[in-house]
Amino acid sequence: MGKIVRISGPVVGAEGIEDARMYDVVRVGELGLVGEIIRLNAGIATVQVYEDTSGLRPGDKVENTHMPLSVELGPGLLKSIYDGIQRPLDVIRETSGDFIRRGLTAAPLDRNKKWAFSPTARKNDKVVAGQIIGFVDETSLIKHKIMVPLGIESGTIESLESGEYTVTDRIGSIKTDKGSIDLHLMQNWPVRNPRRVLNKLPPNEPLITGQRVIDTFFPVAKGGTVAVPGPFGSGKTVVQHQLSKWADSDIVVYVGCGERGNEMTEILTTFPELQDPKSGKPLMERTVLIANTSNMPVAAREASIYTGITIAEYYRDMGYDIALMADSTSRWAEALREISGRLEEMPGEEGYPAYLGRRLSEFYERSGNANVVSNETRRGSITIVGAVSPPGGDISEPVSQNTLRVTRVFWALDASLASRRHFPSINWLNSYSLYREDLSKWFDSNVSLEWSSTYSDAMGILQKEAELQEIVQLVGYDALPEKEKAALDVARIIREDFLQQSAFDDIDTYCSVNKQFLMLKAILSLGKNQSNIIERGITMDQLRSLKVREMISRMKEVKEDQVNDYYKNVESEISAEVSSLLKGGKQ
Ligand SMILES: Nc1ncnc2c1ncn2[C@@H]1O[C@H](COP(=O)(O)OP(=O)(O)OP(=O)(O)O)[C@@H](O)[C@H]1O
Ligand SMILES: [Mg+2]
Repeated sequence: MGKIVRISGPVVGAEGIEDARMYDVVRVGELGLVGEIIRLNAGIATVQVYEDTSGLRPGDKVENTHMPLSVELGPGLLKSIYDGIQRPLDVIRETSGDFIRRGLTAAPLDRNKKWAFSPTARKNDKVVAGQIIGFVDETSLIKHKIMVPLGIESGTIESLESGEYTVTDRIGSIKTDKGSIDLHLMQNWPVRNPRRVLNKLPPNEPLITGQRVIDTFFPVAKGGTVAVPGPFGSGKTVVQHQLSKWADSDIVVYVGCGERGNEMTEILTTFPELQDPKSGKPLMERTVLIANTSNMPVAAREASIYTGITIAEYYRDMGYDIALMADSTSRWAEALREISGRLEEMPGEEGYPAYLGRRLSEFYERSGNANVVSNETRRGSITIVGAVSPPGGDISEPVSQNTLRVTRVFWALDASLASRRHFPSINWLNSYSLYREDLSKWFDSNVSLEWSSTYSDAMGILQKEAELQEIVQLVGYDALPEKEKAALDVARIIREDFLQQSAFDDIDTYCSVNKQFLMLKAILSLGKNQSNIIERGITMDQLRSLKVREMISRMKEVKEDQVNDYYKNVESEISAEVSSLLKGGKQ
């Protein structure tokens, strides 16, 4: 039995741990606090402890579980709220109240609940790792596919019976060359090891979010990676909630690493109330929530993103599209920094460990669109959207920089836009999506052949606006030629009537890609007509009285099923009003 020799906050040194190996989970002290060996040196094991270590003393016992930090995977994950090491928060609350008692163990998956299992494989079927052998209706929205555990490479089904089972009941067995192995609804997986896939696929299908600035301007692919850095209050959390609700993913894994206590409480109260707009059911029916409350030590926060991504991988293996939100990865990185400090490692930039970048890239690399392992054709994806909260909003700091190095989409949230109540406050000049090219084919063939050119025209106008604004600073607006006033005008319309989108308006909260396209096309059509007739002597002041402008600004309120007709009316109103202006007539 091992003994504590040294304690430094969440990090404990111990000697004499039996068969100590890196990443073994150990139980520390009389309370049996959960910890993990993160360094072995000269007979001393360094353990990061996932619970408050106060009260521990040198000489206290340390027991090896001989298991790596693992999660339980099986029916019952959905609708659950876990802490960073997959302890079910509601069960723990029931037994120990709001302040989680230390050393408490509670099974991540309910051991008593029975699930109705329907086999799809039969006796004598030859099966391979990852192959689906049956399913359970986990929630009203999601079929939970039961798969041959990845540890079993291949074998023959000996028995597999339908019935009502708990997660630990035997549901059948497989004959392998290592003997007969029992099957259960549940399997385990070590969180720090990525679950393998057969082969990765190119990111050529968008994750449609219904958010105009995202889908039209900075789209993300299914299986892609996004960094959302933004200062305090700029809208990181609202963006992630909107994606959780609206993105066309099957399942949401939401990892909340809040530092302020109230932010987590907010998630714990708001998330269970969110509705899945597509089904009208609670969003939790297809969500797993991982929440690090403020009274949990930093090490649990460090583990939480691995717990989250492992659960995401498991559902991806079933053939689902997963959206994983991490809010905020800065809090995670701070945990890493604190532990590294306790280990007396050589600090890198701003005190973060030198391996910050590697850890971040290892995490984001677990995203992807892939054919999953098995002899079936099954595709699944994990899209990772990581919020970053750089101190003071300055993204030159290490967490933002290391994140941007590995992510392929950057939504730059902007404090000045947020303070002008331009939401989502995604800065259109600084943001980018490296998936745009790959995805343009999809948009061109699924929405319109003009999709890409419409985007380029709009982006061109916004860039032109930025240049013109500098000139306006120098010479004033009135000195501008009418043509340039018209250019500024259409840019303003794009910003206000297209880029701005209220998350809290019943209709505007989601905008289909067809509606996005028609809205932008209507605005560009107005812009084109305006600049044409300005060349023929019409002034910007005259143009401001066009009634169609009002129609365009109301377009975001138009219901999806009416938007095609509405668009046609806008186009004919533009031509009618323009020709009447040219004739000198009153509209
Ligand atoms: N798309 C949106 N539509 C309308 N309002 C929004 C939108 N996005 C953000 N807001 C407003 O901005 C406020 C702050 O947003 P949010 O909480 O997401 O910021 P944050 O970046 O997560 O802040 P923190 O740094 O405190 O975590 C929201 O409460 C809301 O009022
Ligand atoms: Mg937030």
